[in-house]
Amino acid sequence: MYYIGIDVGTSSVKALLINGDGKVINAANPVYSFQTPKPLWAEGNPLDWWDATQTAIKKLLVTVQSHEIAGIGLTGQMHGMVALNKDGNVLRPCIMWNDQRSHLECDEITQKVGYENLLKITGNPVLPGFTSPKILWTQKNESDLFSSIDKILLPKDFIRYKLTGEFYSDVSDASGTSLLDVGKRSWSSEILEIMGWSMSWMPEVTESTEPSSKISSETSKLTGLKAGTPVVAGGGDCAAQAVGSGIVKEGKVSVTLGTSGVVFAQSDKYRVEPNGKLHAFCHAVPGKWHLMGVMLSAAGSFQWYKNQFGLEEQKIENNGGANAYELLTQEATQAKAGSEGLFFLPYLSGERTPHPDPYARGCFIGMSLRHQKKHLTRAVLEGVSYGLNDSLSLMKKLGVNPSEIVLSGGGSRSGLWKQILADVFTTPCTMVNALEGAAYGAAILAAVGVGGFATVEDACKAFIQKTETINPGLEQEIYNQYYPIYKSLYPSLQNQFTQIAETISPNT
Ligand code: XUL
Repeated sequence: MYYIGIDVGTSSVKALLINGDGKVINAANPVYSFQTPKPLWAEGNPLDWWDATQTAIKKLLVTVQSHEIAGIGLTGQMHGMVALNKDGNVLRPCIMWNDQRSHLECDEITQKVGYENLLKITGNPVLPGFTSPKILWTQKNESDLFSSIDKILLPKDFIRYKLTGEFYSDVSDASGTSLLDVGKRSWSSEILEIMGWSMSWMPEVTESTEPSSKISSETSKLTGLKAGTPVVAGGGDCAAQAVGSGIVKEGKVSVTLGTSGVVFAQSDKYRVEPNGKLHAFCHAVPGKWHLMGVMLSAAGSFQWYKNQFGLEEQKIENNGGANAYELLTQEATQAKAGSEGLFFLPYLSGERTPHPDPYARGCFIGMSLRHQKKHLTRAVLEGVSYGLNDSLSLMKKLGVNPSEIVLSGGGSRSGLWKQILADVFTTPCTMVNALEGAAYGAAILAAVGVGGFATVEDACKAFIQKTETINPGLEQEIYNQYYPIYKSLYPSLQNQFTQIAETISPNT
């Protein structure tokens, strides 16, 4: 018995084949690009995703017979708007999660629905990344195209449509549209009515483990999958990533250090941060919710730093020596915790949590003649860790009290960074054996949905084991002193960030 997880990502599809013991048997990762036709815009071609998905599935099917696949789970980049006409054709490129064009539309939706009402119903303020302002932008700027809309789908749900011919979504991904009643786990007829949008555009929404649709005979011919193979609803990539790291119980928290950084906490009840600073979404675990903080440049900050200031280290790596990141972090271990008063603000692409501000920018603050490269490197790792701690602190105020935090993502390969995180969080951090991310979570949802396990928790218990624990050390005392200073820096600079943005580009 095998399961497939498919993650329709921003720049590639990642497909995984796992067996009944949770072991990864085969993987495929065909890539594509997205377009930025104007500053702040990000658009992807859904048919590129579909081509890549077919390629990935064919690669997985080299290892197994199609009748051995018991179920397929889907996950993907959240928030994107794929608009279809009544013939099921894509009307325009997908406006993606990282597209920032719709800030004026956010204001208009907030004004129409009411800030308090939005927070109560959707658990969040409306942000340019989310789906509903993209719909309004299309209505205002592309009215002919808008009048042909028959369905609005999230990226993975477009792939489901191509795989099965059916329209379904799941509650975790639908939470990022600003159109879901997150407490009731169903589309909000109130918000749709206020906006004058049709409920018939929205796919039926179910819990993530629901085997809602089946592979069509057309897709069977195209890919070799068996017609009738169940496809479970799946989840948004953050929820699926959390399932894939075992974050499926109250009190469990994970931190993912990818390009962006995600702090994710499972929650048994629907709780909303009173100022809307954390995302409050449905989890991919049936009947549960989660809180989430998203930092836009986490390991992305370190990558930027390596590319600009690690030229020597990159040369060594390119000549067959050690990895450039390892060389940089090795040197940074020579700097003292707190980097002798040097701070780094990691807002290289603006920020989402806790400062939803596209104009926020990265800074080194506190530089003196004593500072050397080792301090700058360490300050980058510390700055990202403080920023992630901002999200964790908001969660703690809402009563989330993790006894440990599961780390994942590229940044968690660094021993120094893991120790800094444990010290800044003042909480033990752990690593687990499952490192495949959201696609692995989607495969787990498939295993549960087709009856391989009774619950998501049972599947995670069987598949995911702890491999390492990093306890906070003496340096947590130092970070306790430095973190409040870090926290005070963004508010002091907020107005200047806006002034800088207006000076560079007065019309944006
Ligand atoms: C989550 C988010 C990103 C995208 C792309 O809110 O915006 O994680 O889903 O991965």
